[in-house]
Amino acid sequence: MDQPTTRTIDEWDYAVPDRKLTDSEKKRFSGTMEYWYPPLSKISNVKTPQTEWVNLKTVKIEPGTIHEMTSATYDMEELREAVKRIGLPAFIRTDMTSSIKESDTMKIESLSQTELQKCAGQAIKYNRNWAEVPFSSLVVREWLDIEHYFTVWGGKKVGVEIRFFTSGSTVESWCFDWNPEEIRPDTNNWKEDYQKTKDIAKENVEEVLPKAQAVANKFKDYGTGSWSVDFVRTTNGEWYCTDMAPRKQSQVCHEPFTLV
Ligand SMILES: Nc1ncnc2c1ncn2[C@@H]1O[C@H](COP(=O)(O)OP(=O)(O)O)[C@@H](O)[C@H]1O
Ligand SMILES: [Mg+2]
Repeated sequence: MDQPTTRTIDEWDYAVPDRKLTDSEKKRFSGTMEYWYPPLSKISNVKTPQTEWVNLKTVKIEPGTIHEMTSATYDMEELREAVKRIGLPAFIRTDMTSSIKESDTMKIESLSQTELQKCAGQAIKYNRNWAEVPFSSLVVREWLDIEHYFTVWGGKKVGVEIRFFTSGSTVESWCFDWNPEEIRPDTNNWKEDYQKTKDIAKENVEEVLPKAQAVANKFKDYGTGSWSVDFVRTTNGEWYCTDMAPRKQSQVCHEPFTLV
């Protein structure tokens, strides 16, 4: 599938569930990568991971019974070709969200059917159970080696990440979005590592700010005009913008730092 152009709500094919969106779901529509990725990828001073799209189609499981459930299917060859174009390892999520607590299935490490089914299946299952809005495609991305000093939930890296909050063309604040109350660290001495990760993020805010500003300028008329914008630092010191969300839908920040 070619990179999507920015679609409107009415042009979007929902994979799950196969019904019309409710009003509150419509408000969350701009959270889909299909909405924000095309404009984001065109900003010249902002790096994004190379990204490929795989269509999802709605499928009914055990239709007509009390066990009826809606899920999504994809074409295995289409997925394999997308992963080949990206190269191994690759990161997988849907247009709506990753299965963030399932780190072993977010990284595709081979082209085998078993591996592709495991990773794509987990992304779909997680979205079906947890995503707040319907999703419509699998997204395969260049794997980024994110700088990190500890892991949580059995292997998920807590990376050097900065989340900016924009309002119109103003970048108002930022935060280190990993709330210590909400993570389950894999090590006992994680508090030092947590502080170190957060300190590195803080030291880099000035450097990343012009990139966040470019995103704010581009997105001031998209959706509500207010966004959360996530940047991660890779082990070779480069900053990538990996995720965005309408600011209202983004988790409330536990410790925001004001910029203006
Ligand atoms: N391309 C990538 N390669 C490796 N890890 C990634 C990549 N993109 C995101 N991640 C990691 O996975 C986490 C979740 O991915 P993200 O795309 O932000 O989805 P979510 O909607 O679940 O927040 C990020 O916080 C980051 O740590
Ligand atoms: Mg994210």
